[in-house]
Order: sequence, then structure tokens, then C-alpha cells
Amino acid sequence: MKTITLRTDAQGTTTLTLDMPGRSWNVWNTESIADFAAAVDQIAEDDGCKGVIITSGKPGFLAGADLAMVEALTQGGQDAATLSAQVAPLSDALRRLETCGKPVVAAINGTALGGGFELALACHHRVLVDSPRAKVGLPEVQLGLLPGAGGTQRLPRLIGVQPALQLMTEGKALRPDKALKMGLVDAVVPAEALLDTARAWLATGPDAVQPWDRRGFRVPGGSLDDPKVGQVLMAGTAMIMAKTQGNMPAPVAILACVAEGLRLPMDQGLVVERRHFVSLLRDPVAGNMVRTLFLAKQEADGLARRPAGPPRRRPVRIGVLGAGLMGAGIAYVAAKAGMEVVVMDVDAATAADRAHGYAAAREDKAIARRRSSPEKKAAVLGRIQPAGGPAALQGCGLVVEAVFEDRAIKAEVTAAVDAVLDDDAVFGSNTSTLPITGLARASSRPGRFIGLHFFSPVERMPLVEVIVGEQTTDETLAWALDFVAALGKTPIVVRDSRGFYTSRVFGTYVSEGMAMLREGVAPALIENAGRRAGMPMPPLALADEVGLQLLAMVDRQTRADLGAAAPDKPSTPVVEQLVGAGRRGRRDGGGFYDYGEGGDKQLWTGLGALYPVAADQPDVETLVSRFLAIQAIEAVRCVEEGVITHARDVDLGAILGWGFAPWTGGPLAHIDTVGLADFIEEAEAFAAAHGPRFAVPALLREMQAAGRVFHPAPESP
Ligand code: NAI
Repeated sequence: MKTITLRTDAQGTTTLTLDMPGRSWNVWNTESIADFAAAVDQIAEDDGCKGVIITSGKPGFLAGADLAMVEALTQGGQDAATLSAQVAPLSDALRRLETCGKPVVAAINGTALGGGFELALACHHRVLVDSPRAKVGLPEVQLGLLPGAGGTQRLPRLIGVQPALQLMTEGKALRPDKALKMGLVDAVVPAEALLDTARAWLATGPDAVQPWDRRGFRVPGGSLDDPKVGQVLMAGTAMIMAKTQGNMPAPVAILACVAEGLRLPMDQGLVVERRHFVSLLRDPVAGNMVRTLFLAKQEADGLARRPAGPPRRRPVRIGVLGAGLMGAGIAYVAAKAGMEVVVMDVDAATAADRAHGYAAAREDKAIARRRSSPEKKAAVLGRIQPAGGPAALQGCGLVVEAVFEDRAIKAEVTAAVDAVLDDDAVFGSNTSTLPITGLARASSRPGRFIGLHFFSPVERMPLVEVIVGEQTTDETLAWALDFVAALGKTPIVVRDSRGFYTSRVFGTYVSEGMAMLREGVAPALIENAGRRAGMPMPPLALADEVGLQLLAMVDRQTRADLGAAAPDKPSTPVVEQLVGAGRRGRRDGGGFYDYGEGGDKQLWTGLGALYPVAADQPDVETLVSRFLAIQAIEAVRCVEEGVITHARDVDLGAILGWGFAPWTGGPLAHIDTVGLADFIEEAEAFAAAHGPRFAVPALLREMQAAGRVFHPAPESP
């Protein structure tokens, strides 16, 4: 056994230590599962072994299943019987462990998630280390999966149906104090007392039988026949459907595992769980979510697109120009990451007021939630240094510009700051719409100029779109990526073009909603279809949030820059008409909606006069397909034009950047899932009905002819 050691002491206590060589974390993979199953057999047969402690040789306990294995299971195209045979060994070994007749205690020395916590659940007693870094829970639902190694059966039998369902359908992990309070573990103790506490429990001569294997066992909080629990199940189903719009099979399957499995003895409950688990593994949603949200994200966080040559640079002192919404946000996350941040605005007082005000407000909230402390707040604020002029930026290795979206103002600050920066300092612009190559003309060092497009609110949005201009050097790109990584954000790298990648594709969603309005589709139906598609906000409400005035300005700027070559957007006349009618968006008193005091909103009643609702209405599913298709087609065009090169980045940027329907795994995964032939047919029908914006990109036809897909299946495990 390479991944596990077994040691039995003179008292007959066997310590099973999970310790996978060459890895910083223990995970379940084919090898560690086989080793574990063999270890359980050995424990069961060894008469010298009287009790077992399970712990780990790493700082964490066990992180869950190896994602590459999950990827292979979800995308290998295996049939149900094969998959069932592939996932059985872990669940079977855990069942053998809890029925082997010897008391087993988990000494959880750090984070135990997913299959790691399922191992702890199969022990008769759980002791967890008291560390602020340790987390326990069953987050499988976030991968589109369910806890398939007994978690759906043991957790509700341990803590009750309602709290277990809540934890499993939300996939939330808990810190030690919360885990103890909810009964997920039996004790929380300091690290140095962990093993002694486990031994002390064994010394009490405990029963080696799980509560659920005893006669007369009752589920805490009430069995399924209890009307209160029945209500929980019904309300849970309704809530999940409302939240996921029926797009996510995993939470529903978790509910089914509990509703069916808890009526049965444990062994049969595990069979029920396996059936649902296998059907989720065969569902494209899980495979797509695993690929994009975990594998692609890991790659991006590991800076897969970073040019290898330039040595890594950890930014120590950076500059931020403009302390508005974005600049103050960027200064805050950089200071939180430990960097010294020099902030410049029109004057030092404004910079101090805005940047410190922003950071203080966020830190106060964090303190209220016990995620920060007055000392940490003081340290963060201390690292944000307001500056009166460019001279203070001397020595900054990188500067982010976030002044008004105005070419002349940006050019002016670029030139002023350039004069004091070192030759190799990177200058990043946070512009959301202006092409980088053009902005770089104001710089005396265009090779050092790059786009660093953050999203709002900066502290919450995980993505940074890094835009490479025509003259940007490899070194500049490498150092800009080092900066993004140091902030703990996820970068995607795109080439310069109008709207870059995210704003360009995201814009088609909002624009398509307005196109529907012009066709006479009922506004409520449009909004409903946006939600049904799995987008975080319906398109007309989103336009109000962005601001119709801003949308109009961007359109006008594009027409001024491109003239006749400007794309013909179906939204342009709608935006102009609303702005003309004084409806400029939420912040300006109302747009497509009227807004009440408490944040409630209703569609503006005047909308019907501008866009009469047609007698014939399309069905909602057609509108859902249309919303997904227009974004997917625009994303393919970005790939065709070389704006973005890797399919995984396309999908990752879409979900992290503008919340593109996560259940699809991203716009290109959506095309793969629909199937190229069907997608092309659908696009052709939309093009015939609604115009050339749906024209099938040549790349899709080439791929179809060559039998290619965006995300080929991985090797079998
Ligand atoms: P804002 O209006 O909140 O802040 C701009 C700040 O720049 C103000 O504090 C202003 O006093 C300062 N400023 C103006 N002229 C200056 C000068 N000559 N020298 C120094 N400071 C000056 O604007 P916001 O929303 O923060 O946007 C900033 C940039 O970020 C724009 O380019 C915008 O397109 C981009 N952006 C905005 C996003 C958003 O959601 N608001 C998202 C992504 C990018």
C-alpha cells in the first residue's frame, strides 16, 4: 500500500494514516480507494486490532475525489453498469469499515470535504481539529453531483433530514464550531490533543455499531412519515425548482436519495444512492460543470497561459489611478493581498476619501461577520496610501488605471504617470470598452501597456480579463498574470478587440432581450425565459442595472469609431427610445422597470404603448434556446477571430465573468451538449426568423465536417 500506512500498538489500537506520496492533499483515486479497501480487510481480519484511528499525514484530512477521476467518470461515456462497478468500491469499503466489529474514530486533522467527509461519517466517532482553516462538508452538488459514498444516507441519519438536506443541496462547508453545533462531529479539540482524544474515546470501550444499524433506530428530528419532515421534503423540492429553474439535476437527486433511502435499511439505502449517483454521472450537466468550474479554473489559476520565459514577479507596491467604484475596489483587494497601494485621484483628499471609505465599509462588514478584525482592518487601510500626484507612483512595479471611460482623460493620466515609472513597470487599463492598442498610443512604452478588466464588485467577482494589445510584450503579460494570481483572482487571456471577449458576448444577451421586445414578445415572458435559461438576471432588468444611458453611450461611441462597419444591434433603437422617454435605468429612477422604496420593482406600464404585445407568443423554451444560442454563436466568432483561443477559457470566462448559465458548463460546452448538427439547425432557423446575427459561423461547419467537438472526451480512468 503506497497511500496508506497501518500501525498497531501494544494496546491493539490500529492507526490508519492516509498519506499519498507526491501530493499536498489526500484524495480518492483508483489507487487510494484500492489501498483503503485492502486496509479495511486487513483491520477486519486482524485479531490483534481492537480499535481504529483514521487520520492523515497531510495538513488536511482528505479533499474528496480526484477531479481528473471525476472528469473521466462524467465524460467517458460509460454505460450505467460499468459506472456502477467503478464507483462501488469506495462505498462498499466504507460500509465494511462501519460493520467490521471494531470501533473506528476519525481524527480529522484538517479539511475533510466530499468523499473525505464521507469517510469520517462511516466512522463511529468523529474528532475534529480546532483550526480556523479546517472545513468539513459535502460540496458535491457544486459539481453537479451528489455524495455517492454513503453521504446522502449517513448525514440525515446522523443530524436529521432537514439540516442534512440543506447542507447537501447547498454544498456548504462548515468551520469547526458550526460543525460541532450541528452535530457533524462529536468533539472539536486543539491539534495537539487530537490523537489523545481519539484514543481516550477508544479507551471507553465503545460499541462498534452505528446508531442506524441498531434495532429501533429513529432518525433524529423525525422520520419520513412525520408530517413535519414530509413538509420539509415538499418545500425543499419547490425551493430547488425555483432556484435552479429545473436546470440542475443534482439537488433533486439528493432529495430523492433521502426520500427513498431513509425508508430502507442502510445497505439498501446505499443501493438507492448509487443508482441516483450513476444517473448523475451520465448527465452532461455534471461533466460540464466539473470541466469548467473546476478543471478549467484550476488551469487558469495555475496561469496556464503565462509565457514561460520571464521570471515570476510578486508585486510589492502598485499604483491605482482613479478611486471610483472600480479603482477603490482594486485598491482594496490589492491591499488585502498584502500589497502597498498608492492611490491617485483628482487630488489626495478625494483619493483618501473614496479608497479608504470603500475599504473601511467592506472591512466593517467583514468584522461584523467575524471574517476580519479591527487590527486587520487597520493594516489594510494602512497599506492604501492616497497620493497627490504622479510622483508618488515612483517605484511601483505595476499601475492600474481606472479613471473615467474617456479616451482623452485616460491619455492624459497615462502620459503623466509614464514619465515617473521605471522602464519595466506594467501599465494596466481597466477600460471596459476601449480597445487597448489605441489607448497604448498615449504611452511612451506601449509594450508595457495591457488591459486588466476587473468586474464589479471587485472584491466579489473572481475573474480578470487580461487583454493583450498589438504591442504588449510577453514579459508584460507574464507580470500582469502574476499580479492577478497574487490577488487570488482567476485570469483569462484575450486579444484586443472591441468589447474584448466578455462584454462583447454578454452584450448579445441583453440585446436579444430587447430584440424580443421589438417583436412584440410580452416583457414578462422575456424576463422569465432569461431566468429559465439559468442566467443570473433577466435581460431587461440587467439593462436597467447597467444603465440605459451607458448602453446608449457605448453604442454611439462604437458608431463614431466604426461608421458603416459598426454592427447592427437590434437593441440600439430600443435603448435610444427609452433614454429619449427619460427612462435611463435603475439608478436614474427607472428604465424597463419602475422601482419602489424597498427595492421591489414592476415592469414599467408604459412599455406596452411603445412595444405592443403581439397576439401570438412564442413558447418559453424557444426563447431559452435563443438566449443561449446568440451568446454561444458570438463566443464562437470570438474563437474564429482569435480573440480568445482555448475552449476552456471561453467557458470559464463566461460563467465567472457574466454568470452565463452555469449548468451548461459555458457557451461552447452548450454547443457540444446540444450536438453540432442540432445546434447548426437551430441557428439556421433563428437566422431565417431573426436575421444574420444568428448566421452559423464557418468554424462550426468545419468542425461538423471534421467530426470535431470543443471538448473532446478524456481518457477512461
Ligand atoms: P467612477 O466614475 O466610479 O470612477 C472614476 C474615478 O476616476 C473618479 O473617482 C474620478 O474622480 C477619477 N478621475 C477622473 N479623472 C481623473 C484624473 N484625471 N486623474 C485621476 N483620477 C481621475 O468610474 P468606474 O465605474 O470606477 O470606472 C472606471 C473605469 O473602469 C472605466 O474605464 C470603466 O469603463 C471601467 N470599468 C467599470 C466597470 C463598472 O462596473 N463600473 C466594470 C469594469 C470596468
